[in-house]
Amino acid sequence: MGLSRRTFSALAGTTALGLALGGSGAASCAYAAPTVPTGPAPAPPAADGKRHTIGFDRYSLIVDGRRLVVWSGEMHPFRLPSPSLWRDVLQKMRAHGYNAVSIYVSWNYHSAAPGQYDFTGVRDLDLFLRMASETGIYVILRPGPYINAEIDGGGFPGWLTATEGTARTSDPTYLKYVDEWLDQVNAIAGRHLYSKGGGTILLYQIENEYDAHVTEPAGRDYMAHLYRKVRADGIDVPLFHNDKGRNGYWIPGSFDTDGEQGRWLYGFDGYPSPTLTPPDWGHFGVGGTKGGATASPQTPGLVPEFGGGWFDPWGGVWFKGKGYAESRRLRDAAYERRFYLTNFANGITLHNVYMTFGGTSWGWLPAPVVYTSYDYGAAIDEGRQATDKLVPMHQLGQLLYHVPDLAKLDRAEDVTADGLKVYHLANPDTGAQVYVVRNDGKQTVTSAVPGIDAPVTVPAQDARLLVTGLKLGRRELRYSNAQPMLALSAGRQEIAVLTGRSGETTVTALECAMRPTVTVVEGDADWSYEDGLLRIEAQLDGLTRVLVSGGGVGTPLLLLLADDETSVRLWPRETPSGSVLVYGPALLRTADVSGTAVRLTGDTVRAAELEVWGPRGLREVTWNGGELKVRTSASGSLRAAQPLPGVGTVTLPALRGGWRRKTENPEAAPDYDDSDWKLADRTTTYSTTPVPDGQPVLFADDYGFHYGDVWYRGHFTDARGAESVSLAYSTGTQGLLMAWLDGRPLGTHRMPVPGNSSVRQGSWADTAVFDVPEELRKDGAHVLSVLVRRMQHDQDGKAQDTHKVARGLTAVTFAGAAPRLSWRIQGEAAPDPVRGPQNNGGLYGERHGWHLPDHADGDWPEAELPRADRQQGVTWYRTGFKLAVDSGIDASIGLVLDDDPARAYRVQIFLNGWNMGQYINDVGPQHTFALPNGILRTRGTNTLALAVLSDGTTPAGPSDVRLTLLGAAAGGVTVADV
Ligand code: GAL
Repeated sequence: MGLSRRTFSALAGTTALGLALGGSGAASCAYAAPTVPTGPAPAPPAADGKRHTIGFDRYSLIVDGRRLVVWSGEMHPFRLPSPSLWRDVLQKMRAHGYNAVSIYVSWNYHSAAPGQYDFTGVRDLDLFLRMASETGIYVILRPGPYINAEIDGGGFPGWLTATEGTARTSDPTYLKYVDEWLDQVNAIAGRHLYSKGGGTILLYQIENEYDAHVTEPAGRDYMAHLYRKVRADGIDVPLFHNDKGRNGYWIPGSFDTDGEQGRWLYGFDGYPSPTLTPPDWGHFGVGGTKGGATASPQTPGLVPEFGGGWFDPWGGVWFKGKGYAESRRLRDAAYERRFYLTNFANGITLHNVYMTFGGTSWGWLPAPVVYTSYDYGAAIDEGRQATDKLVPMHQLGQLLYHVPDLAKLDRAEDVTADGLKVYHLANPDTGAQVYVVRNDGKQTVTSAVPGIDAPVTVPAQDARLLVTGLKLGRRELRYSNAQPMLALSAGRQEIAVLTGRSGETTVTALECAMRPTVTVVEGDADWSYEDGLLRIEAQLDGLTRVLVSGGGVGTPLLLLLADDETSVRLWPRETPSGSVLVYGPALLRTADVSGTAVRLTGDTVRAAELEVWGPRGLREVTWNGGELKVRTSASGSLRAAQPLPGVGTVTLPALRGGWRRKTENPEAAPDYDDSDWKLADRTTTYSTTPVPDGQPVLFADDYGFHYGDVWYRGHFTDARGAESVSLAYSTGTQGLLMAWLDGRPLGTHRMPVPGNSSVRQGSWADTAVFDVPEELRKDGAHVLSVLVRRMQHDQDGKAQDTHKVARGLTAVTFAGAAPRLSWRIQGEAAPDPVRGPQNNGGLYGERHGWHLPDHADGDWPEAELPRADRQQGVTWYRTGFKLAVDSGIDASIGLVLDDDPARAYRVQIFLNGWNMGQYINDVGPQHTFALPNGILRTRGTNTLALAVLSDGTTPAGPSDVRLTLLGAAAGGVTVADV
């Protein structure tokens, strides 16, 4: 590939890139031993218009000649349909120590039809990438084409299910469509590459968890095609794949990368059960590619996805989903410390937590297995609120940025500690020693760790990282039993932060050639000096401050010992004028220094102190635009004279009044005019579901209907002798079918039927059998009307085209008669130009805009909730409500639906026309639906429309419908209406 070679040589020239690439792209020296000394991490990235080199050696990425440990979190822009809020999540991630965000780009979200692509509005990838660079965070871009991600079809567009060719292989038809997709994504990505200074894209993934055809041409050629295509499109950052577990698939050299091995990283993912002992590989693994040692010893340890929670499936008899509180409880902060620190000890220096903000699979986005919320039990919850899982991420993220010794570690001499697993590592350049100590037991352990002259305590199922021989600015830490979080220089002093659990006694020992002057500025601490060692003992409670000066060093060191809760209110920031450390508020979004002023923006929840350490000469501090009265504190900071106010009260209206109600499904009536519906008369399909002999193809995708509900009307002339009708259908998990003959309800059939062996997970096909009422078994015209609620397309995790399993009716037969039916089909109308293809299915109300805010419902009958109607079919409810949240408040609001779980109905929730998800009353577990600001007008009028589908077997709701506050803060980002 001439093009990519040229690109690389144009970029070569610095040590790092030259070494990593072999200068002109020659593979032979791609792995030459680098000579990158331990030094400060690269400054936070921006679209600065400069060229940057991105290389690597076996330890880490090397950016502009400096080592970079990637501490990344996953979020999906498509799961937060309000671009302003992307910035909110990005700023929260950045503030909490993540230096990168990893995103999937989901093909189906951007493409309603072949050749049609939309990257505007909530789909504006360019805007997301701009925001990431404005936030100073790297991007790991993962556009598939297959992504999995618990999304419809694993990211494949609905229309791809009706095309020829085998997906995820080198099949030419499939590749033609793939190239069409990559053309679009890469045109945008190409403008935001960090290598070219256009943005902050640092790495790029092709395909995802591709474990089929690994050794066959169909697979290798496919991967080689993707590689070449991406390179030919000008993407010159390192590429990688995400191996499904450490199988050693797609390591460098396993497929043709045009000799550019040095530009290909090996990555694998892991979602270990919390009850497991964290697995070792790399430094501490034993033998083989699979069993232990890294499958790719010359590339740095890369985990493109490591579980930061887990998705929750539907409730009910089959899946038994329990809700996301449980997911968060199982994979809590201690899980993160235990598993992520083990990864780190094993040499992972590129780490991405899937998910860090899960968000919402709104509309028809979720794969059949999951419900609307994709909260994931992540560190930032679906309502954008920080959870205590951010504590370890914050502490480690800051550490990895501020302590460069951690970017280059070798395994060191084994050491043991009673009751603890110890991983011992050392930096070969600086001599700093790192100990990851892990307690796999069920009791807290206090033990002696060699090198640390103080007891080390690790709670049950937890871990911590300790260091010895570490330079903290101009001084050296001999040891501490507290975990270091950062070291920086602010004005006339240096600051180091160490952390631990509240109430713990910590011992921190600093080398001091001469007796220093020590002042305990705040908190409960004692110190002693002997034999060149200053030993500080402190009990952790809030922020303990000890100022160490003299002792042969000109610059004083402020030692801050923070308990966990306090540590996440310490916000370090790099500015062009130097480092800033802010203490107090619930979030620091931005910090700018100009002259003698520092301008801060951020959030408070409760009233909070504000304190700033920064470059010399700072005198003024502003917070969210307002100037603060400040004075200099004994620890060298500027401290606000008055605490920052917390958030005011947010009142939400009750949704009791103003409801109107209208029943629809006219399609069930015998005289409904369906002449403009499509004829369902095809005889062939590309679906993997067989077409029954002698019957037309009834699969909805074949007629261009890919999302949500679909209607069928089968016309026939003679029903004499017909005893029953069998309707075979295929929907995925929670699908259902309801049928009417000549307007008479025949019944509702739901998937899955417990105990029905014909329902196989992965195919979810079943047959509804309804009796034909005696009175209708007559000669003459008849209409069989069928409404199928489809769930979404299966994912294609095993590369078997399972996204092509049929959706909708598959076969219809009668017992006692054999009428020939002529079928018409109607699904969703043309995709909503703003809300996109997954917003609507084919309900009558959806086709006629009943979900839209400006729909005239004045002639709909008024209604009161709760309702208890017993009828098969569809009824809509609409109401309006006003919100008047103060403009300085970021209120995150949800909608709650609640009812007696025996009632058989489900609801599509439309807020201002946006499909905010599917509630299934008798399945659950989801009752609260996040309503993103921007779609929700927090200062204005909103329209809520509920499309209720009732089985007809029980009285049906809605019953209790109310708003709830998911969290509120004073501050927030500016939110534009979507
Ligand atoms: C991974 C996959 C992701 C997602 C995750 C589970 O195996 O790569 O896309 O499906 O599992 O949430």
